[in-house]
Amino acid sequence: MPLSKPRLIKELIGRIPPSQRADVAGVLIPEVDLQKRIALMGKAIAKDYKGKDVLVVSLLSGTVLFLADLLRRLEFPLRVDFLGVSSYGSGTESGKLVFNKELKLDVRGAHVLVVDDILDTGKTLRAVTEKILALKPASIRTCVLLDKKERRVGNIEADYVGFQIPDWFVVGYGLDFAERYRNLPYVGVLKPEVYAPKQSLIRKPSR
Ligand code: XMP
Repeated sequence: MPLSKPRLIKELIGRIPPSQRADVAGVLIPEVDLQKRIALMGKAIAKDYKGKDVLVVSLLSGTVLFLADLLRRLEFPLRVDFLGVSSYGSGTESGKLVFNKELKLDVRGAHVLVVDDILDTGKTLRAVTEKILALKPASIRTCVLLDKKERRVGNIEADYVGFQIPDWFVVGYGLDFAERYRNLPYVGVLKPEVYAPKQSLIRKPSR
């Protein structure tokens, strides 16, 4: 679901609790829209996986809120496991990938659905897909809440996408900056001065 520019700007005005106004510039995707979209994603996934042995593999930690809401919409038997992936870059830059938590469950023969918070350059999803394919699943598909197409390197796409968003650094609903803001109930845009002093709101983070 792409977000149109006028809607985006409308959402950026207000709606920020006073205690969070200092760092968050605006609400990009309000709670109500997240829930509506996740309900639709759940329906599509349930239809595609009917009768299959599904293993949901969630990437820590940005998926916590998305996963909890998505799982409640998947009304069929499934297993859930977690993979820890960290990108060691500075600030908002994507850096070297390190797996810091391995899967516990057996992947062989399962229909794997990888769940991530945001597809950005695609480096993470590509590495995770390759790692899981080596474990011989019956199939593998990917599901992301957010998709920042502008930053993609190569031709990787997710099978299920919640929202396409512009190249702005977003936080909330599980997404963090320096491990903070994950508990915001909406997806918000971080004020550029929080991560890159002297930049304006619409300008891209430096890399
Ligand atoms: P790649 O570039 O590998 O990135 O597709 C995926 C991971 O990078 C993080 N990421 C973000 N985290 N706000 C965040 O809080 C963002 O705007 C953002 N863009 C990328 C995220 O961990 C994701 O899994």
